[in-house]
Amino acid sequence: MSGHGPPVPMISRKSGPLAGNADVPGDKSVSHRALILGALSVGDTRITGLLEGEDVLDTARAMRAFGAEVTDLGDGAWSVHGVGVGGFAEPDRVIDCGNSGTGVRLIMGAMATSPVTATFTGDASLNKRPMARVTDPLALFGAMAVGRSGGRLPMTVVGARAPVPVRYEVPVPSAQVKSAVLLAGLNAPGETVVIEREATRDHTERMLAGFGAETVTQETGEGRIITLAGRPELVPQQIAVPRDPSSAAFPVCAALITEGSDVRVPGIGLNPTRAGLFTTLREMGAALSYENEREEGGEPVADLRARFSPALRGVEVPPARAASMIDEYPVLSAVAAFAEGPTVMRGVKELRVKESDRITAMATGLRDCGVEVEEGEDWWIVHGRGHGGVPGGATCASHLDHRIAMAFLVLGLGCVRPVRVDDGSPIATSFPVFEPLMTRLGAEIRREG
Ligand code: S3P
Repeated sequence: MSGHGPPVPMISRKSGPLAGNADVPGDKSVSHRALILGALSVGDTRITGLLEGEDVLDTARAMRAFGAEVTDLGDGAWSVHGVGVGGFAEPDRVIDCGNSGTGVRLIMGAMATSPVTATFTGDASLNKRPMARVTDPLALFGAMAVGRSGGRLPMTVVGARAPVPVRYEVPVPSAQVKSAVLLAGLNAPGETVVIEREATRDHTERMLAGFGAETVTQETGEGRIITLAGRPELVPQQIAVPRDPSSAAFPVCAALITEGSDVRVPGIGLNPTRAGLFTTLREMGAALSYENEREEGGEPVADLRARFSPALRGVEVPPARAASMIDEYPVLSAVAAFAEGPTVMRGVKELRVKESDRITAMATGLRDCGVEVEEGEDWWIVHGRGHGGVPGGATCASHLDHRIAMAFLVLGLGCVRPVRVDDGSPIATSFPVFEPLMTRLGAEIRREG
């Protein structure tokens, strides 16, 4: 439940070399799914390495409200005693998903085909975000939703009493929408089919298969077609959550722009649906290598090594890569400020409906720090000023968006003058140990006041 406390102003300034290991927390996307699928299986699921950020803790509370027993065993280990597909109880209170679009959309999907009614709300950021993209397909299963104008939270969803399976082509590239439909399909008889034109993160499909659901993914000319057989008995699992590539992005990018740095970020999930940033950074000339490449829990994993890269070049990021790095554009734009020449990012309309409008939020702060940025509805261009060329000196607004706050704090590490962020409290949603982790590496990032 972020955004309920007082703002936490933060500052970052030019730092000496960053060095050492950065043990980033568990993957946020995988953590949400582990809790939800654990709640939908019969018996005890054990999870290790769960991200204990606010977003995921809100999902854990929600699963308890729907009747699952969710227990914190300490040290990132959790157990979920699930109620089975179709076994959700009706919550006796409003489900507060805090800042988490993933949490609310996946949970709406998971409950939409059970005979229960639930009311959802969130913080000021989440309550502005579009929910019709999820409630439209859920209506096809027979669920009903009533929310505020524009399909926004707070919203009540009445689960379908007699759900029917659906065939749905996702109109925007969104793993959340795809996942909501698949989770709803679990309690519909027959086959639910989801079609996505652009591949988005596939953690739901992988985890559903792990829990014993029958899913088939076909790659076709029209995109990916995912077929799920309804009403499976999900079998409880042991899940080791990989470390989050989206969190790894921050120490990696910090090392690239900070003189003399050499940082290792071990055990990062490099699922191709998530690794687009690292490909882009290498194209920019970043000294970024994968070491000790291996497979863990069916996912490709490697240790990342990032070293100071004084001669980064601006690049054109292919639109087809957008989904695989959608959460990384804010920090990419910070790195792009230190590159030579323009970095062009197209096909990124979705950035406007994240925790904040991420194009406007970054463009405004970057301009205030002396960087030229051009933008249109679904594109933006950051004109890099080269190493040592970014003035900084501004206070940037985080707009209740963890990734915006962290991106500006990374920016400040390479600027001539310090960069302030008006409110770093949202960082706790996805990366609660960001500040001590970055400080230990040698970054001068701290709270003010
Ligand atoms: C997520 C999907 C993405 C991403 C979000 C996590 C997920 O959102 O931005 O941080 O776990 O499914 P969209 O599905 O809206 O693209």
